[in-house]
Amino acid sequence: SLGALEVHWELDSTSSELQRRGNAAKDFSIVLAETQRAGRGRRGRTWLSPPGLNLYLSCLKRFESGCAALSGLSLAVGVMVLRALEQLGIAGAGLKWPNDVLAVGGDRAGGKLGGILVELSGEYQGPCAAIIGIGLNLRLTPALREQAGQPACDLATLAGGTPPDRNRAAAALVQVLVEGLRQFEREGFAAFVDDYARHDLLRDQPLQLSGAPGVFDGVGAGVDGRGALQVRMADGSMRRIDSADVTVRRA
Ligand code: BTN
Repeated sequence: SLGALEVHWELDSTSSELQRRGNAAKDFSIVLAETQRAGRGRRGRTWLSPPGLNLYLSCLKRFESGCAALSGLSLAVGVMVLRALEQLGIAGAGLKWPNDVLAVGGDRAGGKLGGILVELSGEYQGPCAAIIGIGLNLRLTPALREQAGQPACDLATLAGGTPPDRNRAAAALVQVLVEGLRQFEREGFAAFVDDYARHDLLRDQPLQLSGAPGVFDGVGAGVDGRGALQVRMADGSMRRIDSADVTVRRA
């Protein structure tokens, strides 16, 4: 059976809330909060989460296939977020590997519209639970923009000044997530790879990558069937990046 859909006024973090419930949480439990005291971003960063403006949502999904099969999940979730925006009639968003949702075109091009944080717990080849956290900027204040620490954008800007109705946006997100996660469970990342390619902002872009193997340059060459970023090196060889511990910048 499906888990509950809960809307809280305030939590530390919607993802932490699901984590604390552990095994007691049903599959497809979805938690939203109006505001988060300690919203978490990737790599230990803070996700600013004031009330009234934006969406903060987490969903717990169990996979019998094991954590090993979930390497493309966070990319697939990016595609799902774009599907939700499409339902809301909002165009002008793209994906930056592994899972940033960015504005395309206009003066805010490259500004971050939302973030995705996928946390896995369980076994490599056995039962695995994913907690999928999504933060979506519907409307940013000038102060928020400044505090964000990176270029930010919001859906209001993409929609010509007026943000979509927040309840409608939440409903669209919940619907595409439930459908999309079922699809991912059945077919894996293969079902999303074409949609990802259509929205891939790094394709054919000169990139600088930094992380465990040092710093190197290359050109974005799409993602493979498991969600790894492919980079064409100066000598024509291809390098496959599957660690999200790598920072990718346009060179
Ligand atoms: C990123 O760094 O880009 C990921 C940001 C993820 C933020 C969302 S908001 C809902 C959920 N709860 C959290 O504490 N984080 C995620």
